[in-house]
Amino acid sequence: MTPEPKRAEPLFRGFARIWTPVAYSTQLRINRPLRVQIAGTGVVLFRDPLGAPAALLDRCPHRGVALSLGTVSGGCLQCPFHGWRFDRTGRCIAVPWNPDAPRSRLAALPVPAHELAGQIWIYTAPTEQAPGAPTVDASLADPGTRLTGFEMTWNTHWTRAMENMLDWPHLPFVHRRSIGKDLVPLIEQPMATLIEEHEWGWRVRTAMDGRPRPGMLDFRKPNQMNLHIPMRRHTLTLAVSCVPVDERRTRLLLMTARNFARAAFLDGFFNRANRRIANEDRAIVESSDPAEIPPARAERSVRTDKATLRFRGYYFSELKDSLCQTERS
Ligand code: FES
Ligand SMILES: [Fe+2]
Repeated sequence: MTPEPKRAEPLFRGFARIWTPVAYSTQLRINRPLRVQIAGTGVVLFRDPLGAPAALLDRCPHRGVALSLGTVSGGCLQCPFHGWRFDRTGRCIAVPWNPDAPRSRLAALPVPAHELAGQIWIYTAPTEQAPGAPTVDASLADPGTRLTGFEMTWNTHWTRAMENMLDWPHLPFVHRRSIGKDLVPLIEQPMATLIEEHEWGWRVRTAMDGRPRPGMLDFRKPNQMNLHIPMRRHTLTLAVSCVPVDERRTRLLLMTARNFARAAFLDGFFNRANRRIANEDRAIVESSDPAEIPPARAERSVRTDKATLRFRGYYFSELKDSLCQTERS
């Protein structure tokens, strides 16, 4: 009899082989698993015996249940169903009742994980070696920086949320009472968008009537926006990651980095301000039809859409068709 062919299973569809933040460091406690869902694929995070983050596909190789419902002890994850135990590499280290089980064939699928700038990151390719580690803007990595953040979930495809983060022209409309107030009297003027290439993505500045405006915005591949807010002597950066949950939901991780007013009790002030601004965008972005950005030719665009169209080009050429295959026997 010929053996049944193995079924290939697509994972991280449209978001494969990239580093992305998936949670805040403070959300991943010692001895407690944390489930995140990235582009339709469930991943369980936990901390190994040294406290470093580890990640596995959130599916037990035995009967497919969610490992995230299990427990962590000694830096290993125990499945809630029959108690198989896995280490940070996915290696099966115990099979209750079956001391003679061939454990080398019973491994869970590991996902590369990393901790950087107050966040847990994964590389969306199970069982693969990540090429290098993720990087962040210097203002987020500086040890003198106070980082604080929160998350919200929007009912839209992550690409619409991402484009919203890169879009200057909406500021005096959606944010006319907050961050866009100063731009309201200027909307009759022509706006120029200046784009600077970097190996991590690109930096966007604007100019009105030939005069550069303060502030600059970075798109960091694949899914982050850093807004550098102009301040005379201090650094204030808003870093937003748009993390796909599935086709219709996006988790936004909204973090600020500041090198002034660093007392922890002031964190709430920064988070409340960001939440208010994000809530101004939310219903408008969620109304986008279709939920996922279409190819550029399917919508009408103008000169000031340069930054979002550039993201659209990147998405369609590098991410849209990406996926990983694992084999399920
Ligand atoms: S389903 Fe995980 S040990 Fe049985
Ligand atoms: Fe906005």
